[in-house]
Amino acid sequence: MKHLIGVDIGTTGAKSVLVNDRGKVLATEFREYPLSLPKPGWAEQDPEHWLQATVESLRRLLATAGVSPKSIAGLSFSGQMHGLVCLDEADQVLRPAILWCDTRTTAQCRKIEDAVGGRARLIQLACNPALEGFTLPKLVWLQEHEPEVFARTRTVLLPKDYVRFRLTGRKSMDMSDAAGSLMLDVRRRRWSKEILSALGINASLLPPLGESPEIAGALSREAAALTGLREGLPIAFGGADNTCAAVGNGVIDEGIVAVSIGTSGTVVAPTRTPLLDKQGRAHTFNHSVPGMWYVMGCMMAAGLSLKWLRDTFGGLERAMAAETGVDAYEFLTAGVGKVPPGAEGLLWLPYLNGERTPHLDANARGVLFGISPRHTKAHVVRAILEGVVFGLRDGLEIVRSLKIPVGEIRLTGGGAKSAVWRQIQADVFGQRCVTINVDEGPAFGAAIIAGVGTGVFKSFAEACEKSIRVTRTVDPNPQTAAAYEKRYNLFRRLYADLKHDFAENMKV
Ligand code: XUL
Repeated sequence: MKHLIGVDIGTTGAKSVLVNDRGKVLATEFREYPLSLPKPGWAEQDPEHWLQATVESLRRLLATAGVSPKSIAGLSFSGQMHGLVCLDEADQVLRPAILWCDTRTTAQCRKIEDAVGGRARLIQLACNPALEGFTLPKLVWLQEHEPEVFARTRTVLLPKDYVRFRLTGRKSMDMSDAAGSLMLDVRRRRWSKEILSALGINASLLPPLGESPEIAGALSREAAALTGLREGLPIAFGGADNTCAAVGNGVIDEGIVAVSIGTSGTVVAPTRTPLLDKQGRAHTFNHSVPGMWYVMGCMMAAGLSLKWLRDTFGGLERAMAAETGVDAYEFLTAGVGKVPPGAEGLLWLPYLNGERTPHLDANARGVLFGISPRHTKAHVVRAILEGVVFGLRDGLEIVRSLKIPVGEIRLTGGGAKSAVWRQIQADVFGQRCVTINVDEGPAFGAAIIAGVGTGVFKSFAEACEKSIRVTRTVDPNPQTAAAYEKRYNLFRRLYADLKHDFAENMKV
């Protein structure tokens, strides 16, 4: 029997998954790493931490699964998108990586749009507007604020590409992740000379491109010694976490849409042509399935909203978790079912880190609206679960408005694990939602990509057919859905009402 490994370089840690040639998950390992928030709006990570966590999780994976390294046919990566990793002449990391959730680059976004002849032109060239989280604004920020680091930069990589480079010695980037750099001509699947020259970025900084399942290199002798894997193991390019999650959920063609609640929240709808929201409110990126694209609504603080509550006000739940071994989120959400839909007038705007879809507004911030003495912690938790789903609905509405078929909605990530959150999603989306048998997300998708790249699977379709089946359907309750429709309208109005105040609030 052959085996495959997928590794996801996430925002909170690295996760490795071992899968057999029938697509069954045999073992998983996770190693956490720190996230540094050195200033308001900044978010950075040390690329060395990604590498160490990857190596440790791989070692542990082999030890727990007890499979022979010889049986492993291929490995591939999924990664948090957009993060800027700069290497010098000797391939040393020059500064901490600037991450997708870092919002320091509003001025650079305007500069980029001006340099190429306006937002509309940029959307023509890159299929996307300039957003704070994307890679090019970070590189332009470096040019302006750390010119000495910029001058020494010889290579720009994205998070998972850096780890793959350290394991193979070869620098490269896959199309699905390059799409989020704002330097790729997403339609033609090549670097955009026009964008690069408008911003004075030398094309030599960018590595060669490949499609997700292509083989990018082989595991080096040193990396084999560190991980316990065999030297020469083929490593596929892999992809952006959102496309890997799509693959891992069987969302590989038009018709099925994935809704994921991780740190960020996404609505991913595959398309056979590069479809665009003309206002740039949703992203259009390349899929990990070569020749496909997808439209994605991306919200910044989905799971992060609940994590924030747990970390700031969930001391009791965390203590109970430490004592019992039960996840703190279980305690936190335990009372939510008793609170009626609508949380008795409490509403959460989930904009802790600004928002991308649909507002493209780095100034927006979280709001808990309508608090009264009647409200309990369970009300606040319910309001947060609902507010996150209203944010996802914004993305889904853009997908629907582009006439992309939404035949089935697959729920994934943290939001798929909780019964109450699943029901809220079905009710707010007003459509049947399903969950599937695998919930290993992007890391599982990366393993499938490795399988397609090494010929273990003939195609993505074959791999998904073998490994994925629907396990649960959740239908909307018509009454609750109607009530949520009203709440959703209020949710949208509240942002519109507060838009200017958010900007004013940033001046403090
Ligand atoms: C997508 C995005 C996030 C990160 C999270 O554009 O910024 O979903 O990929 O890892």
